[in-house]
Amino acid sequence: MKFFIDTANLDQIREAQSLGVLDGVTTNPSLMAKEGISGQQAILDHYKSICQLVDGDVSAEVIATEYEAMIEEGKILAALHPQIVVKVPMIKDGIKAIKYFSDQGIRTNCTLVFSVGQALLAAKAGATYVSPFIGRLDDISTDGLHLIAEIRGIYDNYDFPTQILAASVRHTMHVIDCAKIGADVMTGPLSSITGLLKHPLTDSGLAQFLADYNRANG
Ligand code: E4P
Repeated sequence: MKFFIDTANLDQIREAQSLGVLDGVTTNPSLMAKEGISGQQAILDHYKSICQLVDGDVSAEVIATEYEAMIEEGKILAALHPQIVVKVPMIKDGIKAIKYFSDQGIRTNCTLVFSVGQALLAAKAGATYVSPFIGRLDDISTDGLHLIAEIRGIYDNYDFPTQILAASVRHTMHVIDCAKIGADVMTGPLSSITGLLKHPLTDSGLAQFLADYNRANG
């Protein structure tokens, strides 16, 4: 399973990259705003900075919601850097745009997916990634992981090449459960990755090993 970090914060991206297990980055307009990045040129420059920090795919989201404008914006984003994946919302014009981009060889991430029907449409349109938002489903008492499992089953039935990018991951158990189900990618905060490190028996075991070494070696 690929690990993406879901942030536009360069320090956090750097830290995740330094672990050596990072496969890419997802951003969205809210995450860019959170970092105080505004204005078209600043946003484009920020995407380029992210691409320079990581080796893998970097999702950059279109703001346009109308077909022609999405195409124009998506082309600008895709031309920024070979690592850019154009993130397109799951709306009617978005599906048309994904089909267009797919035919042009431009990679896409279909975002804001909350149902199997939407995931099926994204795959039919040729999306490179589909992003079901599991945390936001959990927030409204709906089983986000169940959606990942259903999409996995449907994509496997037909060998759809679209990769399931479990998004809106909030914690380590989401990561582990997505891996059990067979999501291709997960994207979450830095804490959802670093949290996987933690176990009290590792800490106490290491402390004991070091204490024993020190006792034996003066
Ligand atoms: C997906 O790519 C989105 O950026 C993201 O995962 C949304 O997560 P949130 O629900 O925690 O905002």
